[in-house]
Amino acid sequence: MAILITGGCGYIGSHTCLELIKAGQDIVVLDNFYNSKPEPLHRVEELCNTKIKFYEADIRDEAALCRIFEENEIDTVIHFAGLKAVGESVEKPLLYFENNVGGTVTLCRVMNKYGVKRIVFSSSATVYGHNPVPYTEDMPVGDVTNPYGRTKYMVEEILRDLCTSDPEWSVVLLRYFNPIGSHESGRIGEDPNGIPNNLMPYVLQVAVGRRERLSVYGDDYPTPDGTGIRDYIHVVDLALGHVKAVAYARSHTGAEAINLGTGRGTSVLELVHAFEKVYGKPLPYVIAPRRAGDLPECYAATDKARDLLGWEATRNIDDMCRDAWKWQSENPMGYGE
Ligand code: NAD
Ligand code: WQD
Repeated sequence: MAILITGGCGYIGSHTCLELIKAGQDIVVLDNFYNSKPEPLHRVEELCNTKIKFYEADIRDEAALCRIFEENEIDTVIHFAGLKAVGESVEKPLLYFENNVGGTVTLCRVMNKYGVKRIVFSSSATVYGHNPVPYTEDMPVGDVTNPYGRTKYMVEEILRDLCTSDPEWSVVLLRYFNPIGSHESGRIGEDPNGIPNNLMPYVLQVAVGRRERLSVYGDDYPTPDGTGIRDYIHVVDLALGHVKAVAYARSHTGAEAINLGTGRGTSVLELVHAFEKVYGKPLPYVIAPRRAGDLPECYAATDKARDLLGWEATRNIDDMCRDAWKWQSENPMGYGE
């Protein structure tokens, strides 16, 4: 039986494809290249010396999805496909609802039609909103401040309703914290279009000279050094969490939300200084005003992932910086044109 990976050419998807193949799983990948290119999948093929079955398709295209389910013996879907830029979601909310929510509804309708009732969904710590840290999965969620975050909350609710309506469904809602880093080979990594929104990609582009300096958004938060605290997680640890989540989905029914984080918070300046250790020189930065909508701190409770999945992150912030820098220094323009 194969696992269908939607959005498998993206940052987290490509790393997960590699770990699934290494774990002996059969995979089929779908992507519409809205935010990616074919190259990462070619590099995954090269890293594991395997040909990957790929479809250039959109999750909103029901006929294309039906073809994929007819041509393959799929028993589980890992659903990464989605748009993820918070700012863009404020400017284009309908695009986000149509793609992330509408696309997921279409995907589930087709899954139902072919009797495939197992899905691992890419949710986000953003659904926790203003809860106190550490975030536990039983906290009330949905108090989100932007359309992107709302799509994640809405899809979680839709998938829970699906489980209530049909007890054969198995849904794992993985709430990612802040994925950074790259596969240790330096062959695959994060390659954002345009000006990066997120901290690590921005740091990396400053380091290779594509941007002049980092703006640290706020040094007056109620945190030890005044800068924002996040739970950064190595993307390979995150990918390994998906291997465990598939095994869990295959042996349980019902819906479970599970955090994938390290449980440890790191401030912006701590991350900058950890990066400087592998970079070997100071990283140019200035202190700038706070960014609208940012929370002072965000980190995971990790007990549920450990208890249900038997998974915990093993890579620390130094590993994340080392592997991120290997990727960016060896691929200064990412995957290129
Ligand atoms: P990404 O943009 O690198 O990957 C998403 C992939 O989905 C891209 O390759 C894109 O082309 C594809 N895609 C988008 N819409 C599609 C559609 N309609 N049909 C087919 N393919 C489509 O993003 P990522 O960082 O790898 O994130 C993967 C998932 O995890 C997303 O759902 C994202 O919202 C979620 N997530 C990401 C983070 C993060 O910080 N990276 C944090 C929490 C959750
Ligand atoms: C981290 C810290 C910033 C950029 C976002 C989404 C979230 C999730 C992950 C998908 C914060 C600071 C950042 C910069 C900075 N994505 N920063 N200068 O905001 O925690 O989460 O990505 O689900 O939904 O909101 O991540 O990397 O943007 O910021 O000082 O140029 O770095 O203020 O404290 P964030 P981030």
